[in-house]
Amino acid sequence: MVYKIYLILVYLISVSNICIESSHKFDVFDNEAAGPSISFESTRWSLSEIQVTNVEECMDTCYTEEGCKAVAFDVHNMTCEFKSIVIGKEEKNGHDLYMKIPSEIEHQYKLYKNSIVTLNFPFVSAKFGLSTIPNTDVEECLSICNSEPLCRAITFNITGNNCNLKSSFTGETFNNDCHTYVKLLTDEYSVYANSVAIGGTSYFTSVWGSSNKIVKDLTECLDVCSLSSKCRAVTFHVSLHCYLGTEFTSITNSTGYSIVGKMPKITEYEIHVDRIFGSQPYYSEIFKWSSMKGLDIEICLNVCTADLLCKGFVYRTSGKRCHLITEISSQSSSFEQTTYIKKEINDCN
Ligand SMILES: *[C@@H]1O[C@H](CO)[C@@H](O)[C@H](O)[C@H]1NC(C)=O
Ligand SMILES: *[C@@H]1O[C@H](CO)[C@@H](O)[C@H](O)[C@H]1NC(C)=O
Ligand SMILES: *[C@@H]1O[C@H](CO)[C@@H](O)[C@H](O)[C@H]1NC(C)=O
Repeated sequence: MVYKIYLILVYLISVSNICIESSHKFDVFDNEAAGPSISFESTRWSLSEIQVTNVEECMDTCYTEEGCKAVAFDVHNMTCEFKSIVIGKEEKNGHDLYMKIPSEIEHQYKLYKNSIVTLNFPFVSAKFGLSTIPNTDVEECLSICNSEPLCRAITFNITGNNCNLKSSFTGETFNNDCHTYVKLLTDEYSVYANSVAIGGTSYFTSVWGSSNKIVKDLTECLDVCSLSSKCRAVTFHVSLHCYLGTEFTSITNSTGYSIVGKMPKITEYEIHVDRIFGSQPYYSEIFKWSSMKGLDIEICLNVCTADLLCKGFVYRTSGKRCHLITEISSQSSSFEQTTYIKKEINDCN
């Protein structure tokens, strides 16, 4: 994967012939397409997919429209699709993905002074291929963590000026060299494209006086859901119809609909070393697999955390195999296999 920062200087908008200055930045991922994602309908084009003569046209539109977070570009067909949420990337020849870099620290962090994270689950940045960023400052490190949805926290070493990205926050331990910043996950979501939720009930909001509404964009829908911890998911139709719901237990295919599930603020796991449980394999509709070899533990953890319906996983160190699981029952010993089970979050608000 080639990483570069695409810096656009001054250019003409070919359609309107106005000269504008735009020095905005996008991260560019060559030969990568968006993984699970939700389209964004541009107000300028009234479309989520357009045919262009150059990708700058798409980036300009995406930059100026608040809800747009990324541009998925098909190099051969010269088409680009605007995205409001992208949860992952996948290799795809002839496709480039342009991710908007947040202009400022968008998330809020909780600071734990003089501490490191208790259990170390490093997060490997997709952009840098590293979990430790050397010779940096805390602002840069926070902005890297912000631009990657699955990064949960950072530990910044004040003595060494290096930064460790974390995929999970497991509590803090005193350390004189470091400060730890934990992302407050008020707006972290998991996305299931072309699906509707099963289970749970509608969530009635007094803001609307109902549980569903035609909204102007997905952000409006998510903002209302964010106001209450009882609202756990939204189902969003391309016609901009937003349905609020409580917990859901399963999903089913439905073209034109997407579910955006609210992730628990902190996902914790019970860890059972050298043990496996009676369980069913879980096929992730988000990531499109149930078992995979050659995965680092932190990626396995990230995948299960990002998928609300994943109950846990079994990790086998030999072959680095990650099995996603559901419906856990009795346990038994098993050398070299460790089971991670998501803890139920007691959410009383
Ligand atoms: C894009 O181009 C490919 C050939 O390069 C073609 O097979 C495909 O159907 C085109 N897709 C669209 C959406 O036009
Ligand atoms: C912080 O950096 C210093 C200097 O590089 C190093 O000696 C120290 O071990 C680091 N501390 C931690 C907790 O990584
Ligand atoms: C849902 O769609 C996927 C591919 O889009 C397909 O593989 C799967 O079988 C479908 N599931 C159901 C329940 O129809």
